Amino acid sequence: MSLNPVIDMLGRRLRLAVIGGGTGSFIGAMHRQSARRDDRYQIVTGIFSSDPAKSKKDASELGFESDRIYSSVKELYEKESSRKDGIDAVAIMTPNDSHFDYSMWALERGIDVICDKPMTNTLEEAEALHKKVQETGLVFCLTHNYTGYPMVRQAKAMVEAGELGTIRLVQVEYVQGGKADENKVFPAGYWKFDPARGGPSLVMGDIGSHAHNLTRFITGLEVDEVSAEIGTIVPNRRVHDFGGAMLRFNNGARGSFWVTQAAAGVENCLRIRVSGTKGSLEWMQEIPQALTFKPLGAPSENRTPNGPGTLPLSARCTRLVAGHPEGFPMALQIFIPMPPKRLRRDVLANKQTR
Ligand SMILES: NC(=O)c1ccc[n+]([C@@H]2O[C@H](COP(=O)([O-])OP(=O)(O)OC[C@H]3O[C@@H](n4cnc5c(N)ncnc54)[C@H](O)[C@@H]3O)[C@@H](O)[C@H]2O)c1
Repeated sequence: MSLNPVIDMLGRRLRLAVIGGGTGSFIGAMHRQSARRDDRYQIVTGIFSSDPAKSKKDASELGFESDRIYSSVKELYEKESSRKDGIDAVAIMTPNDSHFDYSMWALERGIDVICDKPMTNTLEEAEALHKKVQETGLVFCLTHNYTGYPMVRQAKAMVEAGELGTIRLVQVEYVQGGKADENKVFPAGYWKFDPARGGPSLVMGDIGSHAHNLTRFITGLEVDEVSAEIGTIVPNRRVHDFGGAMLRFNNGARGSFWVTQAAAGVENCLRIRVSGTKGSLEWMQEIPQALTFKPLGAPSENRTPNGPGTLPLSARCTRLVAGHPEGFPMALQIFIPMPPKRLRRDVLANKQTR
């Protein structure tokens, strides 16, 4: 097998632009690190803020060529699509209200899109984007990243292989505590607390979208009917911070769905249990390498990334050797040192190099 199938196919890495992920942002650095991990992308440009000066500062700190440092997303798309070595794809990780325009403009210029969730703030916009993707035949990839975990892929593969029998019950919860403290001060004008920017329901867009996606990804079922209560727990808050629903799936299975960002002390507990006629599966994001399979009338089994019984769908997306959990490559990253003094920019500027 080739070390880099993209270079094998194209003779080069894919050229990627990133939009969002400026200084202090949450997800931006993770997108950039993930794009580099398999060495299939070269990040060549980006826009990091709606303020051109801030964006250019970040772009220059990230080391992009000076003729690829732009003032706006429109300028970036325009100039990149007229270069011979222009970008192949763009990864969008900006506040939710910009996903639609930034994706649409890219597709109109023939650029493939990787967009963070939620896709858009309205159903109409999502449908228009879907139509555009169908018309152009371009790639539109929505990063519901939890479906990338090896054990989530294993769960899906086990359901597809019939190891659980007919699915009868699904329980999914996504419980966080980051917005539980009513005295916590958020930045003035924080976009997530503005329904026009963050979307009509904060908790549903932020984490409900992941819970729904995970359920559908593993089971392959569609939610047909819901009975739900969506609302606000923390006093004096304008946006939703919890949602609970009873679900009915298209095969008659029943489910429960519980999402909140107001559970004091909880960190990032995304958890799912799927039960069929022959057994149940349980997975929890905070311990991602453990998938528990409880077959009817037999001892419980713990499945692990690339461990015994790994199915091809899971093996294909695992970069780990069995027993080396998800933290292994990140721990190694810590030991890659800062450049030595003789190579630092200020020293080079003073021509004090050896
Ligand atoms: N997949 C996940 O697990 C996950 C996790 C967190 C966030 N997200 C999604 O990522 C997106 C960003 O979330 P975040 O928490 O990183 O937000 P954030 O506020 O921490 O960061 C947003 C970044 O976008 C930049 N920005 C704002 N407006 C811009 C514009 N018009 N053009 C270019 N850049 C602009 C800001 O300067 C900032 O750097 C949201 O859509 C969110 O739902 C996904």
